[in-house]
Amino acid sequence: MIAEKVSTPIRVELTKKSRLPQVDFDNIVFGRQFSDHMFMVDYTDGKWHDARIVPYAPIPLSPAMHALHYGQSIFEGMKAYRYNREEIYLFRPEENFKRLNNSAERMCMPQLPKEIFMDALNELIRLDQDWVPRKEGSSLYIRPFMFATDEFIGVKPSETYRFMIFTCPVNSYYTEPVRVKIETVYSRACEGGVGRAKAAGNYAAALYPARLGQQEGYHQLVWTDAKEHKYIEESGTMNIMFNIGDKLVTPPTSGTILPGITRNSVITIARDWGLNVEETSVHVDEVINALKKGTLKEAFGMGTAATIAHIKLIGYRNKKYELSDPDSSYFSHKVSKYLEDLRRGYVEDKFNWTYQVV
Ligand code: COI
Repeated sequence: MIAEKVSTPIRVELTKKSRLPQVDFDNIVFGRQFSDHMFMVDYTDGKWHDARIVPYAPIPLSPAMHALHYGQSIFEGMKAYRYNREEIYLFRPEENFKRLNNSAERMCMPQLPKEIFMDALNELIRLDQDWVPRKEGSSLYIRPFMFATDEFIGVKPSETYRFMIFTCPVNSYYTEPVRVKIETVYSRACEGGVGRAKAAGNYAAALYPARLGQQEGYHQLVWTDAKEHKYIEESGTMNIMFNIGDKLVTPPTSGTILPGITRNSVITIARDWGLNVEETSVHVDEVINALKKGTLKEAFGMGTAATIAHIKLIGYRNKKYELSDPDSSYFSHKVSKYLEDLRRGYVEDKFNWTYQVV
């Protein structure tokens, strides 16, 4: 069957038996249960072709597949929400599209046409619309990704690729305010590296230092610059912002920091509310001194999966500093609620960020 309402021809093979009845929407574990269908399209001979939606299932891979050995693999993270408790909307999907292609360029991978990205999202979410949770705080996480498929041993860009999307119903990534450790030994990214790309290898490289941090009781690390470990960069799965003396500060998205879409949304909202926001280098000493003096009012992470994640403890060089619980007067609280209301259609979308799918 060829899907209607889209301009990219997408072949659709429906699942014979939906797995939806197995989902307990009251107890969703992040990233464990996948919706019935997935999208894929292949790139060979310089062209994207054979767009299809098929039942979610393992895919056959060559042991020599390029992405497995040389790491040409990038991804995105997005969410679909119930709007006014009924219709389904995406949040700023074009930003994910642009970032995917920016990552692709850095990783020597082909550009994906916007039409394929948007049509695939529309059609996949329309088909699996019953998987979009209705409960407040839950949403459908969407994972678009691209990887190199050449069956070839040798270090050069692959000539063939696959782009895919699958989805899964989720709750918050963090279920409680987070404890973070400022990392002073390992690095996530260095100048001239691939830190600004959402490349799979960035996450793999972070696993070992993150595990060491977890063994000390932290949820996540706060990365610092690779050269001197003096400047804050981002946290494990999110960008980071501090409220110091009623000024919001966050590191600028240089080449080493992922340009987060939630980060950009938070900055835009804060400026719209007339708040003082600075995208500027944040010295670790500035954060620690503010913690000691009590002028660090709040610290929080910003990300698609993490949403707005309050930080309750910051560790630095064997010392632990606690932050007070944010009440409803705190910026992080207000912006978190506003973003949630905006995505769900409870407040006017004055920034034109929401995009209707169903
Ligand atoms: C996201 O925020 O969507 C991400 O990709 C982070 C991931 C580690 C869950």
